[in-house]
Amino acid sequence: MNASLSSLSDLSGLSGLSGLSLREAVPSDVDDVTALENRAFPVPWKRAYFAAEVGEPFRFNRVVRDPGGSLAGYLFCAFAAGEIHVHKIAVSETWRRKGVARLLMDDLFSFAERTASDVIYLEVRPSNTPAREFYRTLGFSESGRRRQYYVDGEDALVLSVPVPPPHPA
Ligand SMILES: CC(C)(COP(=O)(O)OP(=O)(O)OC[C@H]1O[C@@H](n2cnc3c(N)ncnc32)[C@H](O)[C@@H]1OP(=O)(O)O)[C@@H](O)C(=O)NCCC(=O)NCCS
Repeated sequence: MNASLSSLSDLSGLSGLSGLSLREAVPSDVDDVTALENRAFPVPWKRAYFAAEVGEPFRFNRVVRDPGGSLAGYLFCAFAAGEIHVHKIAVSETWRRKGVARLLMDDLFSFAERTASDVIYLEVRPSNTPAREFYRTLGFSESGRRRQYYVDGEDALVLSVPVPPPHPA
């Protein structure tokens, strides 16, 4: 594994997430990420997109693996000028409703605070009720709509959330 030790988090203390590890995505994750992407999205990103994102500057790309090494979830983001764009988040079917996506987004919020980012935003399909409910629980609200954003013609809702200032030391 190429991930440095400092990018690995042991989540054994978190209820329900025992034994999971969270770390930066590396090239050897791309096959598993692509496989989950193909199951999770009606119009999935191609493998080459993920391969091109891994290791690029101004990215925050994370994976969660279970104790057996299987991929539980991933988060791919890009950031610039105080804005963080969530490109992708997905959780494997067997790990859903256990807090894995929440864990990934908590990690992103920590990163956003550390980097004094202003806002996190993303696009979601209006028809994706589970994801919209998930984002609502994180404080995201609708800030726009992109007409026929997806290749199958569905609009995208733009959701955003301001990043709170860092906690005082
Ligand atoms: C959306 C997705 C990432 C959520 O992942 P998850 O790990 O199951 O989410 P969590 O367990 O962290 O959920 C946290 C909270 O979000 C809400 N939530 C998550 N999934 C939900 C669902 N299917 N229905 C209603 N609320 C949901 C709940 O409030 C949940 O808390 P609870 O389980 O205590 O009620 C997952 O369903 C997924 O991978 N979907 C397919 C890919 C996708 O649509 N990605 C988003 C594209 S914009």
